Amino acid sequence: MIRIRPVRVEDAEGIVNVLNPLVETGESTALDTVFTAEQERIFIRDFPIQGLFHVAEQTDRGVIVGFQNVEPFATYTAAFAHVGVIGTYVDRSEHRQGIGRLLFEATRRAAKEKGYEKLFGFVRADNVAGLAFYKRIGFEAIGIAKRHAKIKGRYIDEVMIEREV
Ligand SMILES: CC(C)(COP(=O)(O)OP(=O)(O)OC[C@H]1O[C@@H](n2cnc3c(N)ncnc32)[C@H](O)[C@@H]1OP(=O)(O)O)[C@@H](O)C(=O)NCCC(=O)NCCS
Repeated sequence: MIRIRPVRVEDAEGIVNVLNPLVETGESTALDTVFTAEQERIFIRDFPIQGLFHVAEQTDRGVIVGFQNVEPFATYTAAFAHVGVIGTYVDRSEHRQGIGRLLFEATRRAAKEKGYEKLFGFVRADNVAGLAFYKRIGFEAIGIAKRHAKIKGRYIDEVMIEREV
C-alpha cells in the first residue's frame, strides 16, 4: 500500500535513493549532481516553512518510492506569495502506477490550505513523461524558455507549466 505523508528528516536516505538514479541517467531532470543523504537531511531540515514536501511510502516495505515538493516562487516580494514551484520524483521502478497522481492529490489539498493559488514549474522539453504527467494532472504548458538548461555541454529548452490550485 502507498501512503502519502509529510516528509521527515529520517526520509533523507530514501529520498536520495529515488532521486540519484534519476539524476544519473541525465534524462529527465535539470539536476546534474547526485546528493548525499547528509545534504538531503539538511535540505529537509531547512525546507521553507511556507513550502510543502510529501513523500510516498510503500508501507509494507517501509520504503520511500516518490516525493513531491512545492517551494515559494520567491521571497523578495509578497507579490508572488500565492505562487509555488512544484517538483515530482518517483522511483524508476515504480513509474505509471499512480504514485505521482497520489502525491499531487495531497499536495493540492495542502497547497490550498496554505494559501497557494497557483502552482508553477519548469520541465525539460525532452521530458516526455514529465510533460504528460503534469498535463494529466491539470497543468497547462504556457511557454518555452529556450536553451535554458545546459547539461553536459548540451542546451535544453525548458517548458513552463502552471495550474490553479
Ligand atoms: C513524471 C513522474 C513524476 C510521473 O510519476 P508517475 O508516478 O509515474 O505518474 P502516474 O503513474 O501518477 O501517472 C499519472 C498519469 O500521468 C501520465 N503519464 C505519466 N507518465 C507518463 C509517460 N511516461 N508517458 C505518458 N503519460 C504519462 C498518464 O496520463 C498517467 O496516467 P495513466 O498511467 O493512468 O495513463 C515520473 O515519471 C518521474 O519521476 N520522472 C522522473 C522525474 C521527472 O521527470 N519529474 C518531473 C519534472 S520535476
